Amino acid sequence: MEPLILPPIPDLHTIDVYESHGGYAQLRAALGTSPDAVTDEVKRSNLRGRGGACFPTGLKWTFMPKDSVKPKYLCINGDESEPGTFKDRQIFEFNPHLLIEGAIIASYAMGITTAYIYIRGEYKHWIDLLQKAVDQAYARGYIGENILGSGFSTNLYLHRGAGAYICGEESSLMNSLEGQRGYPRVKPPFPAQNGLWGCPTTINNVETIANVPVVLRLGAEAYAKIGAPKHPGPILVGVSGHVNKPGVYELPTGVPILDIINNYAGGVPGGKKIKAIIPGGSSTMILRAENIEGVCMDADSLKAAGSSVGTAGLIVMDEDTDLVPVLARIAHFYRHESCGQCTPCREGTGWMEKILHRFAHNDASRSDMDLLLNIANNIEGNTICALGDAAAWPVQSFLKRFPEEFERHLRARASA
Ligand SMILES: Cc1cc2nc3c(=O)[nH]c(=O)nc-3n(C[C@H](O)[C@H](O)[C@H](O)COP(=O)(O)O)c2cc1C
Repeated sequence: MEPLILPPIPDLHTIDVYESHGGYAQLRAALGTSPDAVTDEVKRSNLRGRGGACFPTGLKWTFMPKDSVKPKYLCINGDESEPGTFKDRQIFEFNPHLLIEGAIIASYAMGITTAYIYIRGEYKHWIDLLQKAVDQAYARGYIGENILGSGFSTNLYLHRGAGAYICGEESSLMNSLEGQRGYPRVKPPFPAQNGLWGCPTTINNVETIANVPVVLRLGAEAYAKIGAPKHPGPILVGVSGHVNKPGVYELPTGVPILDIINNYAGGVPGGKKIKAIIPGGSSTMILRAENIEGVCMDADSLKAAGSSVGTAGLIVMDEDTDLVPVLARIAHFYRHESCGQCTPCREGTGWMEKILHRFAHNDASRSDMDLLLNIANNIEGNTICALGDAAAWPVQSFLKRFPEEFERHLRARASA
């Protein structure tokens, strides 16, 4: 598949080059059709969100009320703070106008007059690049009043996060945008009814929105035929860990994970064997190498294998990796990033980190394995937002699929 999101065109981030390769033609075409026709095209393409939950994008857009007297908002989620996930920044750097074009098309489809791109605060370099692209798009009349003479007007603003993973969770993101503490909100009400400043709001990931002009350019039917039938389209796979060529690879969904590791990411250094992979960012469940034969990078295949596609941030660990310190590091992240609002997450993430610290330092006892699992089980499903689940799933899956890693640390204590 030719890259559709990140085509290797020099200087594509500049508006002149973007326009000379057909950029903003889909916006022009969309403005010539009805908003419902645009939403319908996105629906029929089967595009699913790239922010982790794979929710159907067109369907999400239909949740926005059509006859709202309140203003409607679009929040584009570029918080990108999960360990192992680093794909949205490729869009900021190499194809920002695709994102901007998608944002304006999405705004038109949903009758939105203000859109925000919420961007990870540490991405200073990419914030500057993106702001430049937004300014260029305003100057050429693609954003602002009476866009391309269509009568449709909308604004697009960048909003910088301040280094909190929780603000990638959609309701915390809205609180943060409102200038409040980034605490998740209880749902219902859902954002489409009661979102930013109590108004109808849609939240979509950066990569999701960048797919929108591609859907319109190819047409829904052709787009739906790319990759895995139930989860189609191009997907940006970020590969890190023990591979020779870590990086972001644009692939059709449904490519076998072993192909991604061996044929795209250059295989494992030193020709070592793979011990484990985490397929979609640190929150997704770890898989044993012997269980990934035939497993592909798409929602259904990874679900059947007992994990999830998440944000397609594939972390590869070779046969020499001690998985206990890996999990201890992951647990440290979730303890640090827990916002503290829900007791199971606030307390449980701290306890899990402490127990894993004991394991990593050969100071844990056998009962700690049960205790650790018990804590994880008591976090999962018992918090307002999915950060609790994201903290529990690695612990549950490492314990279930790699008990021998913990046993080794127990034996090391016994023989000390
Ligand atoms: C703790 C936490 C962090 C999240 N971080 C992000 C993020 O950085 N970017 C993102 O797009 N979605 C993130 N999400 C998912 C969002 O809540 C939301 O589902 C997503 O932005 C919807 O976009 P999509 O439908 O286009 O996938 C996070 C969720 C949780 C629970």
